[in-house]
Amino acid sequence: MSEQAKLLVASNNLGKLREYASLLSGLPFELTTLAGERITDEIEETGSSMEQNAIQKATAYAALSGLITLADDSGLEVDALDGEPGSLSRRYAGENVSDMERMDYLLAKLDGVPWEARGARFRCVIAIATPEGRVETCQGVCEGIVALDSKGEGGFGYDPIFYLPELDKRMAELTLEEKNRISHRARAAQKARPILELLGEQKRYDQTL
Ligand code: IMP
Repeated sequence: MSEQAKLLVASNNLGKLREYASLLSGLPFELTTLAGERITDEIEETGSSMEQNAIQKATAYAALSGLITLADDSGLEVDALDGEPGSLSRRYAGENVSDMERMDYLLAKLDGVPWEARGARFRCVIAIATPEGRVETCQGVCEGIVALDSKGEGGFGYDPIFYLPELDKRMAELTLEEKNRISHRARAAQKARPILELLGEQKRYDQTL
């Protein structure tokens, strides 16, 4: 019997990895991670958009690992800041800062901005690359409002300050299952599923030759 092909989820962010473990369940792949493949190389994100960064990461890690690879670049776009921090979300308050410091930095930037002008969205761009150099992307967004303070223990990153009007809750107040029903990452992963199904089929076919 042929073994299930591996899919490398190329992230060191434990929050993302937890979400993908459930978002990608049921696909014809065994999921693996950079840590699982003992890959320690850091791919620099030099693109000016999330799409460029996601493609850069997925293609580089697919070449390094020889595996079909999924990478995501994601972040928060705040209307009152002309879409910032966007692709700079992780580094917005500097390198090696905590999620709390990142949130405090953003809240300080929005000091005095009224509720009705605090619209924002999380965006996630997924790139799926093969070691042969094929790459496809898909994306998802989740609309909300940057709250005035932080609340909730779930999720990661900016989740405690992201208010979801339809649920009257912060993203960080949702369980993993609830976040995975509505998030930007969940919406992008939903679109990634058929691409991965097809790649899984092709792998299975190749193994029969
Ligand atoms: P990346 O590793 O360059 O994609 O960085 C993404 C950064 O955006 C993370 O470090 C978080 O600060 C933020 N981010 C991305 N997705 C989420 C999310 O689902 N919730 C909260 N913050 C997120």
